[in-house]
Amino acid sequence: MLHTDKKHAIEFANKLLQTHLKQPDETRIKLKGSGADSIEAMFPGTRGDNFIYMQELMLLALQGNIDSRKNYFPNDPDYLDKDIQKSKPFIDTMVMMGLEYDNLINELKGSGAFFSMRTIGHMLWDTTLPGILGYFAALLYNQNNVAAEASPVTTIMEMYVGNELCKLLGYKINPIGASDFQLLDNQVTGWGHITCDGSVANLEGLWMARNLKFYPVSVKAAIENDSVLANCKSFQVTLLDGKSVSLLALDDWALVNLPIDEILKIPNKIAAQYQIDITTVSNAIANFTVQNIGYHDILSKYLPGILNTPVSLCSATRHYSWPKGAAILGIGAANMISIPVDKKARMDLTAFTAMLDNCLQKKIPVMNVVAIIGTTEESAVDPLKDVLAIRETYRKKGMEFAIHADAAWGGYYKTMLNSSDESNPAFFKHISEKAMMALPMSAYVTEQYKVLQLADSITIDPHKSGYVPYPAGGLCYRNSAMRNLVSFTAPVVYHGGVDPTVGVYGVEGSKPGAAASAVYFSHKMIRPNTDGYGKISGDCYFNAKRLYAALVCLNIAQQPFFIVPLVPIPAIEQRQNPADVQKQYEFIRDRIVNVSNETLIADTEAFALFKELGGDQTIITYMYNFYNNDNSVNSDMAKVNALNDAIYRAFSFSDKPGDTEHIPEIVVTSSSFTRGNYGNVLMDDLRTRLGVTNGYDDSINFIISTIMNPWLTNTVQGSFIPSLIEIITRNVNAIVTKIKSGQ
Ligand SMILES: Cc1ncc(COP(=O)(O)O)c(C=O)c1O
Repeated sequence: MLHTDKKHAIEFANKLLQTHLKQPDETRIKLKGSGADSIEAMFPGTRGDNFIYMQELMLLALQGNIDSRKNYFPNDPDYLDKDIQKSKPFIDTMVMMGLEYDNLINELKGSGAFFSMRTIGHMLWDTTLPGILGYFAALLYNQNNVAAEASPVTTIMEMYVGNELCKLLGYKINPIGASDFQLLDNQVTGWGHITCDGSVANLEGLWMARNLKFYPVSVKAAIENDSVLANCKSFQVTLLDGKSVSLLALDDWALVNLPIDEILKIPNKIAAQYQIDITTVSNAIANFTVQNIGYHDILSKYLPGILNTPVSLCSATRHYSWPKGAAILGIGAANMISIPVDKKARMDLTAFTAMLDNCLQKKIPVMNVVAIIGTTEESAVDPLKDVLAIRETYRKKGMEFAIHADAAWGGYYKTMLNSSDESNPAFFKHISEKAMMALPMSAYVTEQYKVLQLADSITIDPHKSGYVPYPAGGLCYRNSAMRNLVSFTAPVVYHGGVDPTVGVYGVEGSKPGAAASAVYFSHKMIRPNTDGYGKISGDCYFNAKRLYAALVCLNIAQQPFFIVPLVPIPAIEQRQNPADVQKQYEFIRDRIVNVSNETLIADTEAFALFKELGGDQTIITYMYNFYNNDNSVNSDMAKVNALNDAIYRAFSFSDKPGDTEHIPEIVVTSSSFTRGNYGNVLMDDLRTRLGVTNGYDDSINFIISTIMNPWLTNTVQGSFIPSLIEIITRNVNAIVTKIKSGQ
């Protein structure tokens, strides 16, 4: 459906070879439809060396836009001609634009060096060239993906990308444009779209789960009250235990615990069974949905048997978009209940089950449970496999809830497990021999990714580990019918077509088609499998463990400070004696830190330990503490927090926002653990390892280093980690001296 103009592409490639690479004529590229095999060609380069190619490609996009304007009713009048362009006011204005643009460009130079090797803070790094190029080319056409008529090309791209995200995550997909009203073989298939960000994707996931929970209540009310459904009083549904019963006979608890896919079939089943047009059925039910009548009425008028406020459950490590979403949806932020986490910041399953028991006993409807597949502060992957298994046991007890995987950050890491896409076999097939060191995910993390497709909805953000420019979040539903629960326009009647647009199914109104184009083109060049994004992700896993190892070895480097990572080295985790802990540190230093990537990989024993180091993904979460002058450990929590705060400020642009003079040597970010949210297990463990004795209820400030740089240990000049460690050591030493002297 989307064609490429091969002539232009060949011209570009040839120009590239001759002009920039100075290649002789005979090596001219013949386009074979193959992709690229160099990740180095996919990013700008530390000093922007690849922008020279991007310049050419951007000119191609500008020329394409000029051509399309010229070809559109070429004889139409114009507001511009050569005389106007030569006139003084025009020239003055253009000169002014040049000057002001120059000012803008200079102002932007203070934006922060998020492209740099020194950026080991936020989950923000350089963006892919195809991401920028895809965005730029589409930007020129100002497409608005709110409706297909305002974005005839980029809406199709969004549908394509939605399918690709679903496929990446393991959901079955339909051909573009097929609707759930037309599903073949009654199969459940997924649906996805681009959102402005992960917060809105999470909001939509919660919105859907809330509407889903109450939908059977609305169906019952509609059958009882609307004359168009008067004949449907005998309508049967299948319960969690497989029994078929009359919907009208169900009590309130059973109504809010119908099986998810059974609920989603209801409108079609009623339409087919009672020969009523599907739009009529949908509209009749819509009059009684929580969407229309509000939370108060759905509970007070139609669920008198539910005496407790419905809740959603999420890991304590949840992003704040979850309580925010609950507030927006009228669920109430306080009803988005945090489940405490274990020492590794993964959802504590005992606490989770206890919470479900409580809900079951008190008949508290659970709208959804959120498992985080990659937290961005603790690098923890929740035990999704167990969460799914636990749901099965509660289904047997008559309790149903949707499961949302918040893989806003970690979604793209699934590409490490996806084999090459048959339809695009050439992309990244032949990674150059200067290959970086892709590391497989740990067995535990792999297990969670392998069941992702069983989650009912998933947030996955291309603008995070997909390296696509903002704004590009993403939301995928396991069952495409879920999108109808949040739509305000019946898709079948929308301009008379089927599924004509993606814009009607989300929170946003106007939204950039350019974002869809950016994701589309980035995926086109960097395939979402082991040959493309999977390779980049694997490199980042590897580099994150390399930096973790180097950081923890500072603990045996006779420094006036020590580091407490959230996830300690295995010897500490296994409570081995101090001599064995020391031995493991020395092993890590000698066989992991102080050797080349190649030596490490060849050393089976060292590599086995290396794979076990650190958190679940590519983020390092750590705290510093210092030794007093008598070599005892500082036991004052306030001083620990002051130290970590000072380190964060030294390594942060935010110390003096917009000030180009304040250039931190490296960039990290920070956050804090609180007892109220994270629970006692994690807090007590950290306090013990920090050696603090006071401030029991104080929060604990920590440093976050996110590794999104696939080249961190493999630059043209070798690993950059020794430089990072030198910078950290020097700066932290100075800060410790200040803190100790009370400055
Ligand atoms: C797990 C998780 N979900 C959702 C979000 C929200 O994403 P965004 O900042 O794109 O709104 C974040 C952001 O950090 C996150 O870490």
